[in-house]
Amino acid sequence: MKKILVINPKGGCGKTTIATNLASYYALWNVPVALIDYDPQKSSLEWLENRTSDLGPIAGVDGSRGRVGIDKSMRRVVLDAPARCTNQQLQKLFKLSDVALIPVLPSPIDIRAAGLFIQELASEKILLNAKIGLVGNRVRENTLIYNNLQKFLKNLDIPLISSLRDTQNYIRAAEGGFGVFELPPYQAEKDIEQWRPLINWIEG
Ligand SMILES: Nc1ncnc2c1ncn2[C@@H]1O[C@H](COP(=O)(O)OP(=O)(O)OP(=O)(O)O)[C@@H](O)[C@H]1O
Ligand SMILES: [Mg+2]
Repeated sequence: MKKILVINPKGGCGKTTIATNLASYYALWNVPVALIDYDPQKSSLEWLENRTSDLGPIAGVDGSRGRVGIDKSMRRVVLDAPARCTNQQLQKLFKLSDVALIPVLPSPIDIRAAGLFIQELASEKILLNAKIGLVGNRVRENTLIYNNLQKFLKNLDIPLISSLRDTQNYIRAAEGGFGVFELPPYQAEKDIEQWRPLINWIEG
């Protein structure tokens, strides 16, 4: 059972988008997958409620109320973290996880905040088990901000695994309970291509 945490204290950076799309990728390939929503706002579980029965199943788990049990048959578990976490919660989530993805929007404020978060994780000795990677989100290539993100990341020990573009595909997928992998390939070819290095890194 591999556990993948999606976390960043910055609100709206794409945690739920990445968590739900990742879960739907596994579901599409018939990998038994659970999605634990630690956010009291329950956006991931709401997404799951809109998922139609013709799509691969995803086991939804409410993680916002203490202890959670995960069926042993699950091969992948995706953990969608809330924006605000106490240090204790951070310790717990990172200890649980094999892989952690930190989505970052390419704005100077978000980039700085992500840097502070990573420093904090290091100084609190929270970064123990999980392999950590950054994922650029809502990125328009060749913008100045994108260059800044790359420059900033070079000063960190943490790799930028991939960048996902800003597209209505994610908005549609969020509303419909599916992922970009489940869209017609001609529509989401570019997105699937951007996910490939991310999936390879998680699975590698
Ligand atoms: N790559 C993208 N392209 C277009 N829209 C996106 C993209 N990523 C996220 N969004 C949209 O941005 C909004 C915020 O994304 P999301 O809910 O995934 O962030 P979050 O980090 O989970 O937020 P919160 O901290 O509130 O839990 C959503 O409306 C989502 O559909
Ligand atoms: Mg969220």
